[in-house]
Amino acid sequence: MDKEKLIAEAKKASTAAYAPYSGFQVGAAILTERGKIYTGCNVENISYGATICAERTAAVKAVSEGEKRFVAVAVYADTEDFLYPCGICGQFLTEFAAPDMKIYACNNKGGFEENTLKDVMPHAFKKF
Ligand code: THU
Repeated sequence: MDKEKLIAEAKKASTAAYAPYSGFQVGAAILTERGKIYTGCNVENISYGATICAERTAAVKAVSEGEKRFVAVAVYADTEDFLYPCGICGQFLTEFAAPDMKIYACNNKGGFEENTLKDVMPHAFKKF
């Protein structure tokens, strides 16, 4: 799969963001093991803590369609900084990560950094 396509899908998804409180529009695109792409955006709420990040929107869409193994995620926002998933999303994605799941953290200059989810969440909670 073409990384550039996944990144383009994340960028496109960010345009659907509902972010009236932060004004920060995020898009995510998840590639599943079966080769399908699921996109998501952040969906904010007036009760701020109820906000859902773009990555979890995309993950929930994928899982609810029967896709439970993710091979990559691209995350995009209109910012110069490379955008990485927050800790909650890192934990959430770990649940459905195929081995060596990749993260493409994008910026608004057309650049991205490639890491594994394991790099970003080395000590994600696994079991009790
Ligand atoms: N946000 C995401 O959607 N994904 C991230 O990786 C970081 C943060 C959202 C949450 C909130 O709507 C806005 O960005 C500002 O924090």
